[in-house]
Amino acid sequence: MTVKIAPSILAADFANLQGEVRSVLSAGADWIHVDVMDGRFVPNITMGPNVVSALRKHFDCFLDVHLMIVEPEKYIEQFAAAGADMITVHAEACPHLHRTLQQIHDSGVQAGVALNPATDLGSLEYIAEEMDMLLLMTVNPGFGGQSYISAVTRKILEARTTLKRLGRGDVPIEVDGGIKRETIGEAATAGASVFVAGSAVFGQQDRTSAIQELKQLGEHAFENGVNS
Ligand code: DX5
Ligand code: ZN
Repeated sequence: MTVKIAPSILAADFANLQGEVRSVLSAGADWIHVDVMDGRFVPNITMGPNVVSALRKHFDCFLDVHLMIVEPEKYIEQFAAAGADMITVHAEACPHLHRTLQQIHDSGVQAGVALNPATDLGSLEYIAEEMDMLLLMTVNPGFGGQSYISAVTRKILEARTTLKRLGRGDVPIEVDGGIKRETIGEAATAGASVFVAGSAVFGQQDRTSAIQELKQLGEHAFENGVNS
């Protein structure tokens, strides 16, 4: 399988986080997506490095940490020490994005760049060498359970082409927001291969069916899409 499903614990039962993460990992989740919000970059407050280290004590899975915070450079070492495998920062929150990506690498962690729906791909030109993943937001960040913004599909296509042109066709594109059975195909066809899913996984009784169905739909669309 090329595609990865990364359930977002934002949609989990926080009072039973260990059980929730165990259930999606045994259901076939590839990564665990941790949405960090500060009430400033986005209008919501969620969790910090303590949740990452608490998860790390119990699980050796890949922890995909999405920082929706201002001044993320102040917290990178803390998230790395807590056990993050990937730290993704928003380009909109980083005036010195190139330096921040280097800082993430210096902490021994993979570096992702996230772009809001309204942000163009311009900055990729100059940071492509420092990126391990591109996260394209398919909703405006802040809350789970929103609808996929179809206008971003064209950006996924453009990003795939741009990354190839820059010699970084190896960089996976992750999409985040509104990913479910009805929308995963559209994003995968355009070239996304890592899918964050909150409500579409944690909102389901049968998480194994939910994850396996997303994976099959995503894999089929990815293989028959722009990458075919
Ligand atoms: C939005 C978060 C997402 C969110 C996805 O700001 O970054 O990861 O939890 O939730 P769903 O899949 O419910 O749209
Ligand atoms: Zn996220």
